[in-house]
Amino acid sequence: MTSTPIQTPHAAAHAGLPAYSGKGLVMAVTSGKGGVGKTFFSANLAAALTRRGHKVLVLDADLGLANLDVVLNLYPKITLHDVFTGKATLDDAILKAPGGFSVLLAGSGMVEYSRLTPEVREDFMKVMQTIVPRFDVVLLDTGAGISDVVLFAVSLASEVLMVATPEPTSLTDAYATIKVLAMQQGRQQVRLVVNQATRPGDGRNITGQLQQVLNRFLSTQNGAGMKLVHMGDVPADQSVKDAIMRRQLLLVHAPGCPAALAVGQIAGRLEDAVLGHTLS
Ligand SMILES: Nc1ncnc2c1ncn2[C@@H]1O[C@H](COP(=O)(O)OP(=O)(O)OP(=O)(O)O)[C@@H](O)[C@H]1O
Ligand SMILES: [Mg+2]
Repeated sequence: MTSTPIQTPHAAAHAGLPAYSGKGLVMAVTSGKGGVGKTFFSANLAAALTRRGHKVLVLDADLGLANLDVVLNLYPKITLHDVFTGKATLDDAILKAPGGFSVLLAGSGMVEYSRLTPEVREDFMKVMQTIVPRFDVVLLDTGAGISDVVLFAVSLASEVLMVATPEPTSLTDAYATIKVLAMQQGRQQVRLVVNQATRPGDGRNITGQLQQVLNRFLSTQNGAGMKLVHMGDVPADQSVKDAIMRRQLLLVHAPGCPAALAVGQIAGRLEDAVLGHTLS
């Protein structure tokens, strides 16, 4: 792995340059530990934001082990990989998901996309530059952790939404990832959603604890520190598992269940925080 800093739109934005032309907001949904609910959350958040009148695209940025298609019950003939290799146009690869939003799916088991090569980097950037101006929100459903592909995908976003569960392993990994985002990408803010929460107040307590550790042990280059913004909790809910087994959106399968209501509330908070001005 190279130690050269990656030049990305986010880095460019820090240097005072515009990240992308156009109005679209790019938000990476990421996590330290795997399997915490990023793909479930991205898909259902997209559906909730679509219902609120926003034009949303979810991009499966887990390029090597994609599975957004599975959660959405889509069988794509054309994926991002075909766009990257010039076999298909971007328009052919953008599909409509059941929730009314658009998706750009990736293939699974693609070893060549598990590493960040200059080609992957350039192809990914080109796709982003084309889609961002066409949508109000682009959600990047990334892989977990701090591999170079994940960090690159996150660097393409102006907003980072970290998903964590209350488990100590998930929190330790979330802390480590947030630290890398501060040090490597100069991030000063990360939004946090606590998924599979089991007690009221889980998310608020966890955010407070993580913030304390960050204040104590994170010394950023510019001394600005890192601010965690708690966007809400999604409770552990059997309906989430049932919806995934049926390959349905939770917001379609059980729109009134506690987890679906929680996702809807978080969509509302995100709208207030970052999207108010992009209503189409
Ligand atoms: N709120 C919840 N309540 C109950 N189960 C949940 C909840 N959120 C997620 N799960 C369970 O966690 C599993 C993993 O979710 P998901 O695939 O969205 O995680 P991920 O973070 O995208 O994983 P990966 O790191 O592999 O991409 C789901 O299949 C579901 O069974
Ligand atoms: Mg996933």
